[in-house]
Amino acid sequence: MPVADIARLADHVGQLVAIKGWVHHLRSSGKVRFMVVRDGTGLVQGVLVKGQLPEADFAAFDRLTIESSLTLKGKVRAEARAPGGYELEVTRVEPLNLAQDYPISPKEHGVAFLMDHRHLWLRSPRQQAILRVRDEVCRACRDFFHDRGFILVDTPILTPTACEGTTSLFETDYLDRGKAYLSQSGQLYLEAAAMALGRVYCFGPTFRAEKSKTRRHLTEFWMVEAEAAFYTLEDVMELAEGLVSYVVSQVLARHRRELETLERDLAPLEAAVPPFPRISYGEAIARLQEMGNDMAWGEDFGGDEETVISQAFDRPVMVHRYPRSCKAFYMEADPEAPELALCVDMLAPEGYGEIIGGSQRVADLETLLARLEEHHLPREPLEWYLDLRRFGSVPHSGFGLGIERLVAWLCGLKHVREAIPFPRLLDRLYP
Ligand code: 4AD
Ligand code: MG
Repeated sequence: MPVADIARLADHVGQLVAIKGWVHHLRSSGKVRFMVVRDGTGLVQGVLVKGQLPEADFAAFDRLTIESSLTLKGKVRAEARAPGGYELEVTRVEPLNLAQDYPISPKEHGVAFLMDHRHLWLRSPRQQAILRVRDEVCRACRDFFHDRGFILVDTPILTPTACEGTTSLFETDYLDRGKAYLSQSGQLYLEAAAMALGRVYCFGPTFRAEKSKTRRHLTEFWMVEAEAAFYTLEDVMELAEGLVSYVVSQVLARHRRELETLERDLAPLEAAVPPFPRISYGEAIARLQEMGNDMAWGEDFGGDEETVISQAFDRPVMVHRYPRSCKAFYMEADPEAPELALCVDMLAPEGYGEIIGGSQRVADLETLLARLEEHHLPREPLEWYLDLRRFGSVPHSGFGLGIERLVAWLCGLKHVREAIPFPRLLDRLYP
């Protein structure tokens, strides 16, 4: 008897199959018993009719509990009214593990309770849908870069220096060599790889000891970063726009069912086609001030400002050329306005905030040395990075996309904590 995925029951109509999974729902009505079983690929209803299966198997139903594991055997029947479109005429019930009283019920639970039970919460239809969308996002990112000749280069997680400011570094003892830090970004290493391979990307976990407790911040998140030799800020904006619109289109094309489960309004996703609007930081500040926000020129935007700016557009907006004073040390100055950085942030619609940060990088050795000093960054552990400016330096640019922020927007989540299987937050390291 073949073991069938519930999602593929269409291939088995009229056949006897085995389904291996967990009990999702149980219901009795007279001489008939119904159980909805899930196997990770979908849900199917099994129908048990007294007399049509061994008495012991029929009786086994009464011992089953929610989330018990089992093998269910039966004949597949098309049934338009059933969720998924198929039903199983059950011939055998083979319990594997009878679950104890399952703590998560269909009734409302508080967020803290659900987060404490994240390992079980993942089994719920909504969380499964989010994880499937996340899988698609990761696949689409890889395909996008691969198709454009970007080479995957894995960057280290243990690093000797900061990349994105020293205030959000996770520190750890590194054997007898003193301190190491968990990577805040693979960018610096990616720059080295771009000088070897031209166009490169990395995709991995990223760490920020963020003291901020917002719905957009994790202390461990996944970032896909691209870097390309000879790319300018303009090139990188086009690349970022291409990536995001591609990922959105893939999710829309392949995951309608999940978006439906999440009750996601599709209109904002369908609108995310190029060209994305581009405005300068200066324009953004002017718009904010017009709307009564008293943000002064020179400050970086917070979540509130990002929300206000993005609300003026129906698709992701790219804000470019922020003041250098509020951005990272490695950003190239705008030759037309040296107080500005050749950088871009992409803000997602609907208040989801910054999903991408990128820039053109400082190409000149003396300029970079001055920057390290301005930012009080030690030179010695970055000598290798300085070498990139000593041996055939070229203009180059790149960006990083935060996977959870993108997934949160795509799925319409209130908080990024649901966009990652096991979130790490300011106040959470369990489970
Ligand atoms: O803007 P960030 O800090 O840029 C960099 O790290 C660059 N070195 C990337 C590059 O140019 N190669 O971070 C990039 C993105 C943000 O736009 C955001 O989507 C995400 O990473 N991000 C976070 N996501 C969740 N939690 C946090 N604490 C995040 N910090 C950044
Ligand atoms: Mg940023």
